[in-house]
Amino acid sequence: MATLAELTPRAQEILGREQKAYEIANPKSREAFQRSSQVLPGGVTRQLCYFPPFPCYADYGEGCWFVDIDGNRRLDLFNNATSLILGHRPPAVMKAVREQLSRGTAFQTNTGLETRLAERLVERVPSVEQIRFTNSGSEGTLMAVRAARAFTGRPKIAKMEGGYHGSHDAVEISVRPPLDPAVAGPAEAPTAVPGSAGIPPGVVGDVVPLPFNNLESARAVLDRQASQIAGIIVEPILGSVGFIPAEREFLLGLRAEAARRGMVFILDEVQSFRLSRGGAQALFGLRPDLTTFGKIIGGGFPVGAFGGRRDIMALFDSSSGRARIPHAGTFNGNPITMAAGMATLEQLTESAFAWLNGTGDRLRLRLRELGERSGVPMQVTGIGSMFKIHFSASPVRDYRSAQQASHTIHEALFFFGLNRGLYLSSGGRCCLSTAMGDAEVDTYLAAVEEFLVALAR
Ligand SMILES: Cc1ncc(COP(=O)(O)O)c(C=O)c1O
Repeated sequence: MATLAELTPRAQEILGREQKAYEIANPKSREAFQRSSQVLPGGVTRQLCYFPPFPCYADYGEGCWFVDIDGNRRLDLFNNATSLILGHRPPAVMKAVREQLSRGTAFQTNTGLETRLAERLVERVPSVEQIRFTNSGSEGTLMAVRAARAFTGRPKIAKMEGGYHGSHDAVEISVRPPLDPAVAGPAEAPTAVPGSAGIPPGVVGDVVPLPFNNLESARAVLDRQASQIAGIIVEPILGSVGFIPAEREFLLGLRAEAARRGMVFILDEVQSFRLSRGGAQALFGLRPDLTTFGKIIGGGFPVGAFGGRRDIMALFDSSSGRARIPHAGTFNGNPITMAAGMATLEQLTESAFAWLNGTGDRLRLRLRELGERSGVPMQVTGIGSMFKIHFSASPVRDYRSAQQASHTIHEALFFFGLNRGLYLSSGGRCCLSTAMGDAEVDTYLAAVEEFLVALAR
């Protein structure tokens, strides 16, 4: 087996060649990016939509493909950050949206659609007795964190090092800290590191990072500040740093620790709700106090939600006076989103999940075989329909171990894929949609194999 250091010069060579080919094949995207850069900082309005030298611009989507403005047809392996579980423009969702469009796009009153989508979610997720909708997953986690603080009267929030819960202050801490121990602290008791300029020290001081998949150390950290911590927020699969699943004992253990110490346990299912009808909590056998949602429940439209125990959700009830937590939002429960979300959930039958999860399992297996056969050191993480290759010789089970992987090799694979009709995320995370079939999965695997052969040559 080659070492990463040995493979890096070849990866750089592939990267240089593929980047050049990408630039030549995408003149319209280059022009669109130059124009965007005049009015949008960095040319984009969403960080993930940028990659150097310039990102591509979508024209239209169709099933598991999208076509960019240069006419390149690309197999969509990221599905708008996992949100398009049915792929682009699924007919049933388009029909529901068209019907709602003919009635109106937004009202300063209820439509009942929010009730129906809430009923569907409550029925699917037993831990969720009541729910509120927002316009993004970030708003959902913001409200859940606030609820934990209001419910317990405690100021601090514990989150995982490497955990991503959106862009608000309380959770933009220790998402991707530099690995220097002088900054990030020891692995067993990470230091809170702001992930953005502009976060006040007081906010940083109120966040307690926990080591992911290390229950004993997490317990010790919680012990030191137990009376101050309002809640623990955790993803069942560390998303942003590379689809790293939580070990079951870790999640169940953390949940028990929260209960023992009177902390609110918040499971962030913004991404993981694509794992089953009842989300990751159904698979893990977990009953959180609060759950946050987003992505697939909006059927391709902006959405978020938070819900859980009735006594906690009562904080938002203003029917008998002022709510302890006022929750407003001009587009909360937007009828187009609600209609699209319901139509999407209807399509997500047991057999749809079985195909997504079974195909994900087979795909991870095949990727591992390809890695072994090529002699390229790689780890494959993921669960259900989400997966990622880490070019690393050592197992990946938390944020720090994920940082050992080669970024250059990954970037080379990304551009290699782009030039062969694959749209992987620039960070390397991938997911399936029900619009795909075995042929598309094989197309992806063949491209990865071709890349590995080229790399190891
Ligand atoms: C686990 C998790 N929580 C929260 C969010 C934030 O959601 P949004 O981008 O809709 O604000 C994301 C987004 O990727 C996420 O993956």
